[in-house]
Amino acid sequence: MKNIGFVGWRGMVGSVLMNRMKEENDFNYFHSIFLSTSQIGEHAPNIQASQELLLQDACNIDLLNSLDIIITCQGSAYSKIIYPKLRKIGWTGYWIDSASFLRMNDDAIIVLDPVNQVLIKQSINNGIKTFVGGNCTVSLMLMSLGGLFAHNLIEWVFASTYQAASGCGARAMRELLIQMGQVYNTVTDLLTSPSMAILDIEHIITKFSKTDSLLVDCFKVPLIGNVIPWIGDYMYNGQTQEEWKGQAETNKILNTSKIITVDSLCVRVGSLRCHSQAFVLKLKKDICLKEIEELLQSHNKWVEVISNDVTQSLNKLTPVMVSGTLNIPIGRLRKLHAGNKYISAFSVGDQLLWGAAEPLRRILRQLL
Ligand code: HSE
Repeated sequence: MKNIGFVGWRGMVGSVLMNRMKEENDFNYFHSIFLSTSQIGEHAPNIQASQELLLQDACNIDLLNSLDIIITCQGSAYSKIIYPKLRKIGWTGYWIDSASFLRMNDDAIIVLDPVNQVLIKQSINNGIKTFVGGNCTVSLMLMSLGGLFAHNLIEWVFASTYQAASGCGARAMRELLIQMGQVYNTVTDLLTSPSMAILDIEHIITKFSKTDSLLVDCFKVPLIGNVIPWIGDYMYNGQTQEEWKGQAETNKILNTSKIITVDSLCVRVGSLRCHSQAFVLKLKKDICLKEIEELLQSHNKWVEVISNDVTQSLNKLTPVMVSGTLNIPIGRLRKLHAGNKYISAFSVGDQLLWGAAEPLRRILRQLL
């Protein structure tokens, strides 16, 4: 049995990963060592018969060097320090990472097997040892539009994203929930009085939101009752880093020989853990909607084409309905006034599942 080290398994992505691995009985196939940067020697989670009982030091290079596979959800800061040290001493094990630090390295593969299994297989055969999960919006876009990408039908795509608080971390989710409570508490009494004019209530909330009273640590401005049209660092070309990743990672995942143009405008909204995206696409040729829907639907077993009607859109195409599932609904499909090669689409995906943890557990299974 291979020895697998887990780092960052307690964080948000890490705990989603642990849950999925338990659900799929992944722990039956290897011996686990749970590592920690801060609680060395404490009890490890009790997950399988074949595991170390105590937490080991996640920075102990000799210990890491003895492992066959390391899977980390600890973040880029950890990978930046530990990964080069391990490779430098000649460690030839597999490194599986949720963080972005290694993603664009030539000797790293971004994993999303329903989309790039052929590339993954070739890379394993060619001795690639580093596998990294993609940016969540990119992975979710490719899971939803995979059928069109696979048939090389997309000339360009523009995504307007509606990204959940979870993409910014656990603290950000708490911040959003605290803001919800703070806003509600300022008007609770007024809401129970039917005679109170709604614009008077709105005025109180707006005034409250513009003061320093709301908790705004992570987002710097309120997320409740607001949208934030900026995600990530500035990239010096007008894009944010999140927007830059769209084209860079998509083309790396698809291993394209000719770059497919991908652009986006990324926006944080007050949903909890599902990212949504509205796409405008230009196709390379005019194909009918029915064929487009068939191509999308047949691409992978998680995508579901939602018919372009109100009931289906409200019941199946929202963050609330998709949260906690692996479903990738795509709907609002129609030809645009711009011409027959232009279509719109709207998709939703759980940012912590297909957007983060799921591709990692699936590559792990392939490497055992
Ligand atoms: N960068 C993404 C976000 C999450 O801020 O929503 C991780 O891919």
